Amino acid sequence: MTVPSKYVIELLLLLLFPLSSSMCMADFHSDTGVLFCPNHMKVSPDGRQVDLVMDQSCGSGFQSNKAFIFGKFDIRMKLITGMSAGTVTTFYLNSTLGKWHDEIDFEFLGHIGATHYILQTNIFTKNVGSREQRIHLWFNPTADFHNYSILWNPHQIIFYVDNVPIRVFRTGATGVPYPSQQPMTVYGSLWDGSNWATEGGKIKVDWSKAPFVASYRDYNVDACVWSGHGQSTRCTNPSLPWMSHTLDAGELKQLEWVRKNYLIYDYCTDPTGTKPECSV
Ligand SMILES: *[C@@H]1O[C@H](CO)[C@@H](O)[C@H](O)[C@H]1NC(C)=O
Ligand SMILES: *[C@@H]1O[C@H](CO)[C@@H](O)[C@H](O)[C@H]1NC(C)=O
Repeated sequence: MTVPSKYVIELLLLLLFPLSSSMCMADFHSDTGVLFCPNHMKVSPDGRQVDLVMDQSCGSGFQSNKAFIFGKFDIRMKLITGMSAGTVTTFYLNSTLGKWHDEIDFEFLGHIGATHYILQTNIFTKNVGSREQRIHLWFNPTADFHNYSILWNPHQIIFYVDNVPIRVFRTGATGVPYPSQQPMTVYGSLWDGSNWATEGGKIKVDWSKAPFVASYRDYNVDACVWSGHGQSTRCTNPSLPWMSHTLDAGELKQLEWVRKNYLIYDYCTDPTGTKPECSV
């Protein structure tokens, strides 16, 4: 008997788990749908860009047609120019189809023209959130498109801004659930967060400056598509680069640089309550 080669084993695995393990996409027409207020969402004819428009009647949002279990989710965004206080612009994953609430968020908090956008990230696992971190950015996010990515694998969640890691959440802290059993749907939205977004709600949306426009483009998903059968095992193919990715030395340096120079709030150092993962 000959020992089956790695190639043969991989072929067998493919035959056993024939569903697509990965997909990429970049078309807002065919891969996303409207979350709310369809007439406030403008998709470009080629499907590569969507503008979300908010006025006093409505904001807007989109959601992916498919759900995913693990993957790398990229988008390029250009935020509202000028006065944007009270507005919240988001790109996030939510376990909408699941039994409990897992969520991975980018939330851009609007500002009065003279100050800066705040990028807040948050993570919910098994219904528990309140894991906010806030940073300033090292560029003007309203002047041009920049890349925002979420890498989510069984070991960690990494938030990237222009390929620079700004936050990592790892599995393994005792008593802290990690999102790994439920699929996530992808969302982008623009809405009125007057009651909390800017200086704790002190500065509201100034409707005289409406309409507010946030643009998203080059939406790209390289992820395991959820088949609806509770299967995540087929996403174990190690050749998917994001599946086993951990921060290398260069990325760790970048993360340190961000935290040292741009971090303005971290739930882990908030005296009102620390979570078990903060002491790891
Ligand atoms: C995410 O989904 C949960 C239901 O699982 C829902 O309660 C929550 O509002 C959603 N979050 C967002 C930001 O849409
Ligand atoms: C954003 O991503 C695109 C596509 O991967 C890349 O070509 C571009 O250089 C990136 N931009 C920045 C500012 O990192």
